[in-house]
Amino acid sequence: MINVILSGCNGKMGQVITRIIEQDEDVRIVCGFDVNTAMNNGYPVVSSPFHFSDPADVIIDFSHPNSLEPLLKYAAEKKIPAVICTTGLLADQQKQIKAASEVVPMFFSANMSLGVNLLIDLVRRAAKLLEGNFDIEIVERHHNLKIDAPSGTALAIADAVTDTLSQPYEYVYDRHSVRKKRSATEIGIHAVRGGTIVGDHSVIFAGLDEVIEINHHAASKEIFAVGAVRAAKFLVGKAPALYSMKELVSTI
Ligand SMILES: NC(=O)c1ccc[n+]([C@@H]2O[C@H](COP(=O)([O-])OP(=O)(O)OC[C@H]3O[C@@H](n4cnc5c(N)ncnc54)[C@H](O)[C@@H]3O)[C@@H](O)[C@H]2O)c1
Repeated sequence: MINVILSGCNGKMGQVITRIIEQDEDVRIVCGFDVNTAMNNGYPVVSSPFHFSDPADVIIDFSHPNSLEPLLKYAAEKKIPAVICTTGLLADQQKQIKAASEVVPMFFSANMSLGVNLLIDLVRRAAKLLEGNFDIEIVERHHNLKIDAPSGTALAIADAVTDTLSQPYEYVYDRHSVRKKRSATEIGIHAVRGGTIVGDHSVIFAGLDEVIEINHHAASKEIFAVGAVRAAKFLVGKAPALYSMKELVSTI
């Protein structure tokens, strides 16, 4: 049985994780951390990690960037591995995760969906094979309440493509302001906003007389929770290092 501490347990993702773990006989939540301690989840909830001293195997964090520093301190002191899923972290906070990973295993991915990370893996392979002969465009679609564009996941896909390619590619977000043909070394990144779309990503490789398109469609936030629980199981027993979905996907 894997004993989990759930940071941000009373938020939207925390509640999805609570539901998923209830149905998983290999995992149980032994404590929740949240500034909001008012909800009854069937496990104790404390406002600060340092109010909980029982043993635990792994932390799953879907909370807020402000909670990161005490959480990392706690994880490092108690030697409890942590899956950090909170996004919007500053560069300095990313460095803090890296530093903590030198003493305790850490897992970080801005997108915990197994499917999205499989898409990234497939896109890497496609980019390598098709380099030079295909134009690459990324289209993402999200609900009408999303403020940022393009999505962090679209940028992560583009970064995975450019990591793979042998020459530098330029990201182009707007073709409205310039009238010229696209260059062979650009990646067009486009954002569609509307309705209640949870999150769709398409990567288009357009070549001479053929088009390859790799798509991912998210129907609910549950996919991130399923990936986070899988990452927690993956992390238990690992040596201290910084892991991501890239390592998890490559082990499957
Ligand atoms: N990596 C991924 O795949 C992925 C997927 C979904 C959401 N997220 C991220 O997870 C985080 C949580 O998302 P959500 O939709 O559940 O948000 P939410 O606002 O519904 O929940 C956040 C919870 O954290 C708590 N919290 C806030 N500040 C805190 C602090 N200082 N200490 C402890 N708890 C604190 C809040 O009380 C709340 O219960 C966000 O950063 C979101 O972007 C990541």
